[in-house]
Amino acid sequence: MYIGDADLGKSQFTSPFAQTPRQSVQVRRATRPPPLPGAQIVVIHPVILETRHQTWADEADCEAAARALARSPLLRHACLELHGTLGAGKTTFVRHLLRALGVQGRIKSPSYAIVEPHELPDCPDLGIWHFDFYRFGDPREWEDAGFRDLFASPGLKLVEWPEKAAGLLPQPDLALVLDLQPDGLRRVTWRAGTPSGRTLLAELPASPAGSAPGDTDRSDRP
Ligand SMILES: Nc1ncnc2c1ncn2[C@@H]1O[C@H](COP(=O)(O)OP(=O)(O)O)[C@@H](O)[C@H]1O
Ligand SMILES: [Mg+2]
Repeated sequence: MYIGDADLGKSQFTSPFAQTPRQSVQVRRATRPPPLPGAQIVVIHPVILETRHQTWADEADCEAAARALARSPLLRHACLELHGTLGAGKTTFVRHLLRALGVQGRIKSPSYAIVEPHELPDCPDLGIWHFDFYRFGDPREWEDAGFRDLFASPGLKLVEWPEKAAGLLPQPDLALVLDLQPDGLRRVTWRAGTPSGRTLLAELPASPAGSAPGDTDRSDRP
């Protein structure tokens, strides 16, 4: 079970894919060939169109970045990856982002459920999906749980621990890399992977605490 409540063991939401007939899932599994012995492994490197760096002194800086991104209509159909070790601040950023968008009520971490859906009161048809792939171990579950369909559908996707689902996820519009320093500061790297992501990067505060001027790298620079 992937869509659930971290506290209660089950979700108040029903997976739109829960009705998938078991038989059709088995057919899909049967058609996936096992990897050939000695097959060449192709590593696909993510596209990076532009990079920005920030330093967050505290949660207020995190909140400022979240609020700035939430102002852009592009965010509502974006895919954001969140990288960083346990405690880096991934879920905290997601909470600030969802609050800035207008999500109300308790925002649960999807650590156990893998995905938590959210909706906006003024826009209930817009899908918002918060994933945490930390416990994702079996790639066959990708289709069984309907993740392929979720990522193909419109809406906002926020993905913690994307490396655990490497090779299955789409190219993110934006990747956020959080690095908690011994002094408590968070070094923050933003990577735009699509033109939409690049536009979103431009929404970020010019120079939050500690950021140096000229902290943007563009791949199209000579
Ligand atoms: N920017 C920040 N500044 C200060 N503390 C933070 C910040 N982001 C997160 N924290 C704190 O760090 C802890 C872990 O954050 P969390 O978002 O759960 O990490 P992750 O999801 O990366 O494992 C929480 O107690 C949170 O309050
Ligand atoms: Mg988390």
